[in-house]
Amino acid sequence: MSIDRPRPVLVIGSANVDVAVATATLPRPGETVFGDSSAISVGGKGANQAVAAAASGAETRFIARTGSDAFGDMVRDELARRGLPTAQVLAVTEAGTGLAAIYVEHSGQNCIVVVPGANGLLTPTDIEDAQGSIAAAAILVLQCEIPHQSLYRAIDLAKECGTPVLLNPAPCQGLDLSRVASSVTYLIPNESEAAQLLARPVESLADAHDAALRLHRLGVTCAIVTLGARGCVGAWEGTTQHFAAMPVNAIDTTGAGDAFVGCFAASIAAGLTPSAAIRRAIVYAALSTTRRGAQVSYPERAEFEAALALQPAVDG
Ligand code: RIB
Repeated sequence: MSIDRPRPVLVIGSANVDVAVATATLPRPGETVFGDSSAISVGGKGANQAVAAAASGAETRFIARTGSDAFGDMVRDELARRGLPTAQVLAVTEAGTGLAAIYVEHSGQNCIVVVPGANGLLTPTDIEDAQGSIAAAAILVLQCEIPHQSLYRAIDLAKECGTPVLLNPAPCQGLDLSRVASSVTYLIPNESEAAQLLARPVESLADAHDAALRLHRLGVTCAIVTLGARGCVGAWEGTTQHFAAMPVNAIDTTGAGDAFVGCFAASIAAGLTPSAAIRRAIVYAALSTTRRGAQVSYPERAEFEAALALQPAVDG
């Protein structure tokens, strides 16, 4: 008798090294300010989401490209330390490992400049070579730090294979949402990405309900607009629902959206409803904001399970 293994979460996306500095206030254009701490750690929206999915309990696979350099080795070493296989995180010689310059001010706000480097060399052919992995996955998780043509190819292949797609449209410049909306099961933008995608402001909670519903009506099965400390709004089956954030003393929100996405994907892969998956993802993301950095701030599974155990039971 064979025992079926659970199907894995498959993340295809970016792996970066993050160079983060903390400062009292973000510099304005032309201004130089002093920072008070700095850190170099592994990041990239794809790698962050893969680590979050694995730490949330899912068997997880990750497909990415790094440079053939010390930062690429750092990425693979850190992923392996987090229990992720690195056989599909390949080094290329034509570009260096992706790099993100991250500025975090004391309020917790951040801004990021990403130089894609080797992430830009994950080609549509590489995606086609991964068709078997896409077909075998419980869910395919994508973001927008790889070339759009590769992203679209992955979405098309997942549709052919019947694998649900979770798209985190970050960064969303140049993304043709109309090209992919009807093939995306879960779309998870933050409020500024939702505003860019819809070309309308998303500021109030009412705006977020409206934005989630508009994205859902574009063809996405389930749209979730994340709102930081205000939680998130989900839209599926024609209606919207607000989910409150878990109150924490947030010191750095870098990568919190990725923590949410990875945990949500793991929870969906485990068979939870969108509402139950959102409630878990809110806890995982909130814990990540209580420490500095992106991936480096993510809780391991034991800490996450302990925090979940303290949450009030909710049906659905
Ligand atoms: O979402 C946070 C991530 O964005 C960072 O880890 C950085 O690498 C950029 O990709």
